[in-house]
Amino acid sequence: MPRTYLVTGAASGIGAATTALLRERGHTVLTADLEDGDIRADLSTAEGRAALADRARALTGGRLDAAVACAGVAHFAPVTVRVNHFGAVATLEGLRPLLAAGSAPRALVVGSIDSVHPTDPEILAAADADDEAAAVTAAQAAVDRGEGHLVYSSSKAAVSRWVRRTAPGADWAGAGIPLNAVAPGVVLTPLTRPLLDDPATRDLVERAVPMPLRGHSRPEELAPLLAWLTSPENTLVTGQVVFADGGADAVLRGDRVW
Ligand code: NAI
Repeated sequence: MPRTYLVTGAASGIGAATTALLRERGHTVLTADLEDGDIRADLSTAEGRAALADRARALTGGRLDAAVACAGVAHFAPVTVRVNHFGAVATLEGLRPLLAAGSAPRALVVGSIDSVHPTDPEILAAADADDEAAAVTAAQAAVDRGEGHLVYSSSKAAVSRWVRRTAPGADWAGAGIPLNAVAPGVVLTPLTRPLLDDPATRDLVERAVPMPLRGHSRPEELAPLLAWLTSPENTLVTGQVVFADGGADAVLRGDRVW
């Protein structure tokens, strides 16, 4: 049965691969990105987030079957928490009324293996409190003291915690809408290319994200999992952060979590 999806960050990498797979399978996919696709919106801003929801409503007639919040950046800068956490949350919350009117609705955000790395407690507390200004201040403070790498891990931990907290509630599980995250390991996309092209940072990445199964992944390998989690076949999985990371989480966190 053809479905209507909305994918953010659809112009590149994992979002582009997921869009291509869903279209191959006969679904309609509305694409959203900064400067490309059916909806052009900057998800680091309140205006862009509102425009995404408004345009999606107009293009779908108010009914959407699945939403994938994939847009993300990995800069050592506050914009990373704006897009990866607040932008993703606003995307899914803004589209929730459309999903509630859809058929077998599903929602998904792309997290990261980096969410299990050290994080900044101030960024996390601000994100938990839905206080974007405080999160931006905390992110800038991390950058200023030379810990800009904590902004990305914190943004992904924050959005993963949001999924865990939010999915069981009345608006999501209570409305029959599974809400999950997928946490990739290292995926070969424009986001990671600069890190992997430089031998020094490549070595750091390999030590931080060990992937014993098959090494670094391709975006096309993530797409089937994203497609399944947002398909009607997924009737039970909700509130989960599914690590699709070639074994990195098992290496890094061992048997302390499951
Ligand atoms: P990518 O750079 O290939 O694609 C990201 C897309 O998001 C781009 O098309 C970009 O224009 C869009 N985007 C960025 N800022 C935006 C904004 N303010 N508003 C709207 N769209 C915006 O990156 P990739 O690797 O496909 O990343 C997709 C998601 O996967 C991101 O959330 C990223 O953090 C996550 N991820 C990626 C990993 C990797 O190794 N590549 C690993 C773990 C997670």
